Amino acid sequence: MPELAYLNGKFMPIESAMVPIEDRGYQFGDAVYEVIASYEGKLFCVEEHLDRLERSMRELAFPPVSRDEVRDTLFELFKRSGFSRAGIYIQVSRGVAVRNHPFPETSTPQIVMTVREVSEVPQEYRENGISVITMTDFRWGRCDIKTVQLLPNTIAKQRAIEAGVYDTIFVTEAGVVREATSSNLFVVKNGILITHPLTENILAGITRMVVIDLCRELDLPVEERFYSTDEMFDADEAFLSGTTTEVLPIVQIDEKIIGDGKIGPIASRLSAVLQRRGLESG
Ligand SMILES: Cc1ncc(COP(=O)(O)O)c(C=O)c1O
Repeated sequence: MPELAYLNGKFMPIESAMVPIEDRGYQFGDAVYEVIASYEGKLFCVEEHLDRLERSMRELAFPPVSRDEVRDTLFELFKRSGFSRAGIYIQVSRGVAVRNHPFPETSTPQIVMTVREVSEVPQEYRENGISVITMTDFRWGRCDIKTVQLLPNTIAKQRAIEAGVYDTIFVTEAGVVREATSSNLFVVKNGILITHPLTENILAGITRMVVIDLCRELDLPVEERFYSTDEMFDADEAFLSGTTTEVLPIVQIDEKIIGDGKIGPIASRLSAVLQRRGLESG
């Protein structure tokens, strides 16, 4: 099965896809992206991802890009790959221009895409839960825009790996809990789910939104509000949500065991229901 790229109107093997060195995404991180996954040959939440991509581009005043063209291209790339469980990466940069800080007066956004098979979270983590650490959020003030400026996220993830755990949760100096390096965070206390509200400090995760919808259907109360590290450590359950992360239960944060140290009933239920929703999509 081919891992493919799309670039400048052409489909090709990923290794053959090259962008010019003066692409503003490369020199300034002036690019936005999306990751869309499929379940059993059907892409999940395409329009929601396209909505967010458009919003990211709008927030950064990118020249217009045709939504229909992006959609047609990603479906074509997906079809050509033949993958049942695909992860499609879409990146749009402001374009190629002589290196200079101001936005170029004219530039054509550069769209690149790749398709690979989803690199799955190991089943053992899904069944037994993961451990995470916390770290001060040192990202910029517009984490709601899905830009490729992910250096702080990569440093935080690397720190987790070096600590022998799965991921890192960003928290503020004042002890407000934000999100993980590539997923959102939910905690559960006395049957109520709590997650950070949609502000400029977190990404509006598509999976976060789907989880909240599922909670509504299942009559599980959700509070979108700020919460502290103390509340997080004292939670009965905690879990990450993300496109390929799905719902991933957390059993330890720093030194603190969450709940009884086993994956909680609400996280397990949501994990199963989310996977079913993905399989039924299309
Ligand atoms: C910082 C951050 N938060 C949350 C998410 C989860 O978003 P989604 O559910 O749309 O994958 C991501 C996904 O990449 C992310 O990078």
